[in-house]
Amino acid sequence: MAEITVTTFADARDCYRNRDLRQALYDAGEVIMSDVVVNLHGAEHRDRRRLENRLFRRDTFTLYEQDLFPPIIESTLAPYLAEGKAELVTLGHQLMMNLAALTAGVDRPQGTPEETFRLYDYLTTFIEGATLAHYTGDKEAKAAEVLAALEAFDAEFLAPGMARRRELLEQHEAEELTADDLPKDVLMVLMHNQDRLELTHETIRREIAFYLLAGAHTSATAFNRVVHNIFGWLAEHPEDEHRVRDDRLFVQRCTHETIRLQPSSPTGMRWAQADARLSSGVAIAQGDRVTLDLLAVNRDPSVFGDDATEFNPDRELADGVAPWGLSFGQGMHACIGQDLAAGVTFMDGDDPNAHLFGLVPVAVQTLFDHGCRPDPDDPPEMDASTTRPYFARYPVVFDSPAPQLPS
Ligand code: HEM
Repeated sequence: MAEITVTTFADARDCYRNRDLRQALYDAGEVIMSDVVVNLHGAEHRDRRRLENRLFRRDTFTLYEQDLFPPIIESTLAPYLAEGKAELVTLGHQLMMNLAALTAGVDRPQGTPEETFRLYDYLTTFIEGATLAHYTGDKEAKAAEVLAALEAFDAEFLAPGMARRRELLEQHEAEELTADDLPKDVLMVLMHNQDRLELTHETIRREIAFYLLAGAHTSATAFNRVVHNIFGWLAEHPEDEHRVRDDRLFVQRCTHETIRLQPSSPTGMRWAQADARLSSGVAIAQGDRVTLDLLAVNRDPSVFGDDATEFNPDRELADGVAPWGLSFGQGMHACIGQDLAAGVTFMDGDDPNAHLFGLVPVAVQTLFDHGCRPDPDDPPEMDASTTRPYFARYPVVFDSPAPQLPS
């Protein structure tokens, strides 16, 4: 068995599209990931994905972005705006977890901050569970801890949410509710089709936990980095200050450029189930493991130009090249939440009112609408506990006063 690392855009695209290459990134994270969509292969993956694709459609994204997300963004931000400052790492995770919970179908019956913190604790444990391969301590003990967290999450959040949806399904079967009246979330879609795909309760539990972490962690990481990169860009291009307020496509372009340069999941990994040859000539033998180095792939100068390592939201790209590079993957496992997270690219002639900006750009825009800038007295700090470039703290202040809440 050989370890092969792919660093060019063309090779990585070929790998993502090759059906003989099977997911390898989560081998040690079975307790959460054993049969979740990103870890399935072949027909099993196709059937699960087809089902979930029914939810992840343009009309659902529009509903989320225009109707369901804005009040969550406002209410998550409100206490920080009232204080005139925030710490972005915490704020970003809270915000994206609240949005991911809605998408996954994790109900919040109490709606209290304590409930949010408990859900956040579960989420942190699930992330550890998914990335057990990189855990340096006692893996078995950690896996047991993750399983206990899954069971507690089930009792507190999942089971009541499933009971509510079961009642709604009964009302739907009795024709008291239309399919349109059912909640638009992953849990509802899975329960509606549970018999057809023979999904066990444990499978549904893992899938919902995975959706929570897939939606929240990636988007929160991107959120923080976009804000940081915009601050950096404005420091060097003060003439662009007005764009963060007047041009919503600018913030979206900064998001795409950030996701290209700093992919939230910096590597893809696959096992070769058969021999393969990439169009560049690279030969892969059955049993080899292939790592896709997305940091290098997304800086491939033959695709993104000689200044590919730099942040430039005004970058000109050849037709057909996505501004986020391969950060959302491609092929059968391509990110199902891509349009939800980052919107779609605006084309000449598109209707700006119908445009999908994506939840990361919308959340970042909301900060800038409130005059967000770095806290001059409290500089950001990097997270020293990991070799990956995560911020540990990122203090910001808001210049514009919080809107008056109705009494
Ligand atoms: C900036 C935000 C995000 C980034 C960078 C990102 C990145 C990715 C990548 C690279 C993959 C492919 C993994 C592979 O091929 O091995 C993926 C798959 C996936 N993502 Fe995302 N993601 C983001 C947001 C989201 C959101 C908001 C959701 C939830 C709605 C989501 C749900 C998923 C799911 C379910 C898959 C598996 C799809 C499949 O296997 O068919 N992601 N994501």
